[in-house]
Amino acid sequence: MFESKGGVLFLAGVGFFVLAFLFNGVIPMLMFRDMPEQTAEQVVNPRLMYQFTELSRRYPESFRTAFGEPTEENCAQALRLGRQVYLGEGCWHCHSQFVRPVSNESLRFGEVSQPIEYQNELQRPVMFGTRRVGPDLSRQGGRHANDWHAVHFFRPKTLLPDSPMPEYPWLFEGDPSKPNQRGLALITYVQWLGSWLDSYPYYEELQDFEREDDL
Ligand code: HEC
Repeated sequence: MFESKGGVLFLAGVGFFVLAFLFNGVIPMLMFRDMPEQTAEQVVNPRLMYQFTELSRRYPESFRTAFGEPTEENCAQALRLGRQVYLGEGCWHCHSQFVRPVSNESLRFGEVSQPIEYQNELQRPVMFGTRRVGPDLSRQGGRHANDWHAVHFFRPKTLLPDSPMPEYPWLFEGDPSKPNQRGLALITYVQWLGSWLDSYPYYEELQDFEREDDL
């Protein structure tokens, strides 16, 4: 078998699989085995709270019905639900959540993903995705405003006439100005992605926001 070209390729294939499994699976697992998995409550952070509060002001009635007040506990609930909607609507068919350390992906999507970023409840199972019809979403938070997402989820073609992304009108009570609980949760989830990094867009503005007393 090892004299033939096919045999060598087969062995190389198995060998590279084992190597990849070691470096991408076993070693990170050993590195982070003492680190507890974070809960949804623990991954709520000021940048996300800024977005969640902004949602409560932009869509006061829908927000009150869906989540009441914009507290950290309610934000964690929104994240859990948002992740379920992301799963249920099959967003992961077209979007990955993994910036790979190859092909200059970081130039397009942002910082390369680190194993530790997946050590939380909202990554069970991990949302790596299987293919990229649309862009990677791991650094999506803060890139667009909440109302941009509302309009985009309602009808992507309004913003990008050639977009192949499906419409999700059932996340709204009528029009894009009335996102329902699932719609608000999905926007919260998308704004969360990458909010644990200092590279989150509008970070300067967020710091100003935190200084304002009336918020
Ligand atoms: C059929 C494939 C497909 C599905 C399913 C899909 N998308 Fe998209 N998505 C795209 C494509 C293509 C783009 C780029 C064009 C655009 O912005 O509409 C995109 C863009 C986006 C963007 C904007 C990215 C950016 O940086 O501008 C977000 C956010 C997004 N999708 C979230 C979602 C969510 C959440 C779901 C599930 C509810 C979803 N997508 C389902 C294909 C898809």
